[in-house]
Amino acid sequence: PKKMSTTRMRKMKTDGVPISVVTAYDYTSAKLAEEAGVDVILVGDSLGNVVQGQESTLPVTLDEMIYHTKMVTRAISAPFVVSDMPFMTYHGSIDQSLHNVGRLMREGLCKAVKMEGGTEIAHTVDAVVKAGVPVMGHIGLTPQSVYQIGGYKIQGKTGVSARKLMDDAKALEQAGAFAIVVELVTDEIAEEITKAVSIPTIGIGAGVHCDGQVLVFHDLLQYASPVFPKKFVKAYANIGDSIRNGIAQYVQEVKSRSFPAQEHTFHADLELAGHLYG
Ligand code: KIV
Ligand code: NA
Repeated sequence: PKKMSTTRMRKMKTDGVPISVVTAYDYTSAKLAEEAGVDVILVGDSLGNVVQGQESTLPVTLDEMIYHTKMVTRAISAPFVVSDMPFMTYHGSIDQSLHNVGRLMREGLCKAVKMEGGTEIAHTVDAVVKAGVPVMGHIGLTPQSVYQIGGYKIQGKTGVSARKLMDDAKALEQAGAFAIVVELVTDEIAEEITKAVSIPTIGIGAGVHCDGQVLVFHDLLQYASPVFPKKFVKAYANIGDSIRNGIAQYVQEVKSRSFPAQEHTFHADLELAGHLYG
């Protein structure tokens, strides 16, 4: 398949072809996602939740993002790989932000970075884009600011919230972002934003009118047992149950000595073995 690019994504928006995005955090899952035909892979800092077992994405470090991004990019040929800039790695000076973006790109070998925020980070997005790095924006419910927002709340329910979201989207477009993740935003406002900007919107819990959709690997495959059910997630498989059942059967067969069977077992030539040890 042809390699995905920012220009192709822009064309997909104009042609009305939806963009499919899924997260991946390691070689094997990334390989499976590419084989499944996904357009874009996001190495999300949601790995803090689903891989590391943290309460939020805040503890994830730049070194950890680099480590996971390396594993993913090693597996990928056609999909476009975007990697998350972790909490507080793009909020200091422009020099510090550029340094951190440079490390993720150069060491992780991703094609673009994602940053949470709108108007307040537009100057940073502008500087990173001017340095030649494609930036994906992320507005609405931005998990790195969950403690400021006060919880995982739906955005764009009121006029004030809707106006702020629209300002954020336009500021990111203006700053040169190539796409924007729109998270936990009402259907109506996500549609308005999608119509108002020329760059693709990628929704998660933001309705069907976005130019693409993104889901967390562990959510769409029901890999992790959900701490709380998410209305915006659809389960396309139940690999958590498959894994649990497979391991339970293995444990039972070890205990009953029905594994390993003859077909899994190696045998010595007894005469030869006799020579060696006799
Ligand atoms: O970290 C992540 O997985 C994300 C997506 C949910 C957009 O940022
Ligand atoms: Na993220």
